[in-house]
Amino acid sequence: MGNVYVLDHPLIQHKMSIIRNKDTGPKEFRELVDEISTLMAFEITRDLPLEEVEIETPICKTKAKMLSGKKLGVIPIMRAGLGMINGILNMIPVAKVGHIGLYRDPETLKPVEYYVKLPTDIEERELIVIDPMLATGGSASAAIQAIKNRGAKHIKLLCLIAVPEGIEVIQKDHPEVDIYLGAMDPGLNEKSYIKPGFGDAGDRLFGTK
Ligand code: PRP
Ligand code: URA
Repeated sequence: MGNVYVLDHPLIQHKMSIIRNKDTGPKEFRELVDEISTLMAFEITRDLPLEEVEIETPICKTKAKMLSGKKLGVIPIMRAGLGMINGILNMIPVAKVGHIGLYRDPETLKPVEYYVKLPTDIEERELIVIDPMLATGGSASAAIQAIKNRGAKHIKLLCLIAVPEGIEVIQKDHPEVDIYLGAMDPGLNEKSYIKPGFGDAGDRLFGTK
């Protein structure tokens, strides 16, 4: 079974509290999602393998550590996952970015796929699927299935907020996927929004309703 990590660094918790506030407007919301994503990227890459290389400083030759192993890919689930990309690329500038367009049908709550564009070599990459919200889990599960169908093998899921229902769905559908969160909220409201959450992630980021 994949692990669930709550990345509750004080800076992440502080910034999450500001984005939860309904009076935080899109500009500040976007900036904070960016910053939180950078902090989370720092934590999610903790297990990347290193190799020893020889370098020369201005003083002498020495052995030093550099990243080795698989190449990375970041896959935002549109729309709201787009808000997390830059923050992650700040830390991992060489990662390639694939896009998955999915929205949750407001009546059925089922994910509807409308766009997929991925790096051609996704089967060789360590992939991080990003989406601020893991609510019923339908969107993230469908996105992970969509990239698996196209060859993806090594997948992590990174969300700002999740609820136990969503975690259960991912662990049932994709038991090998590790999940990284900024916060775990208690549950969903009657419209399947995360409670307390921060409302509609896409609308908060892009100023729509
Ligand atoms: C939001 C969010 C997730 C999904 C989570 O997207 O960004 O993708 O809902 O809900 P779920 O876990 O119940 O599937 P939304 O469907 O609002 O689309 P948008 O980003 O295009 O606004
Ligand atoms: N999608 C959102 O944008 N917010 C929620 O709370 C749940 C699903």
